[in-house]
Amino acid sequence: MEISVISIFPGMFDAVAGSGVSRRAMEQGALNLHRWDPRDFTEDKHRGVDDRPYGGGPGMVMKPGPLCRCIDAATADHAGPVLYLSPQGELLTQGLVEELSSEPAITLVAGRYEGIDERVIQTRVDREISIGDYVLSGGELAAMVLIEAVTRLIPGVLGNDKSARQDSFSNGLLDCPHFTRPKQFEGHEVPAVLLTGDHEKIRQWRFQQSLKKTINSRPDLLRQADFGKTGLNKEQIKLLKEFKLEQEDV
Ligand code: ADE
Repeated sequence: MEISVISIFPGMFDAVAGSGVSRRAMEQGALNLHRWDPRDFTEDKHRGVDDRPYGGGPGMVMKPGPLCRCIDAATADHAGPVLYLSPQGELLTQGLVEELSSEPAITLVAGRYEGIDERVIQTRVDREISIGDYVLSGGELAAMVLIEAVTRLIPGVLGNDKSARQDSFSNGLLDCPHFTRPKQFEGHEVPAVLLTGDHEKIRQWRFQQSLKKTINSRPDLLRQADFGKTGLNKEQIKLLKEFKLEQEDV
């Protein structure tokens, strides 16, 4: 996958290039990260990328010229959807991450200041994406969140492809609790069922735990959950659907 990032702080992306799953993906050749700085596309001696907003008000706005020239150069190298990270965008969900991970190339635009000139969005941006209902000082961290989430879904990048399938949200539910050695830690035991070796029982226990966690932490997710992906039998799916209907009545 080719990921191009457009940012006036390209050095921030050392974080994803230098460690973790994204670094491994780059070493394997599964991911190429291309950094583009709009300052390199300015035409004035101060290399200015921002200006005051028309209509007045606080803060500065990123100028359309350098940004559009920069996006054009990036997409000429690697065509693909241009995604602008902003709090005004559609919410980044695991579903959207899965969709993006199948693209051969994406270009991420990270804005700074109060945002970017709207005409850049109108003429160059395919999708505006938010990572949550809070405001960051720039899109770089949001772009890195997206890169991390997408990269781990590229086939072969995670050591074990099952890990991605078992994650939170892959079936619409939150992940179950995990335990490793020692069997007893500060007086707390590992749940006995995990020591039985009975895979069917363990699978059911994990599903129940996922369900419990989802009901307690994120009941809103249950409305969209795809129970067909859980590997449950018909009776269990029926019970869950009834439970879901009750939830919708609340
Ligand atoms: N830039 C600033 N805040 C953001 C957010 N919540 N999501 C994506 N990009 C942003």
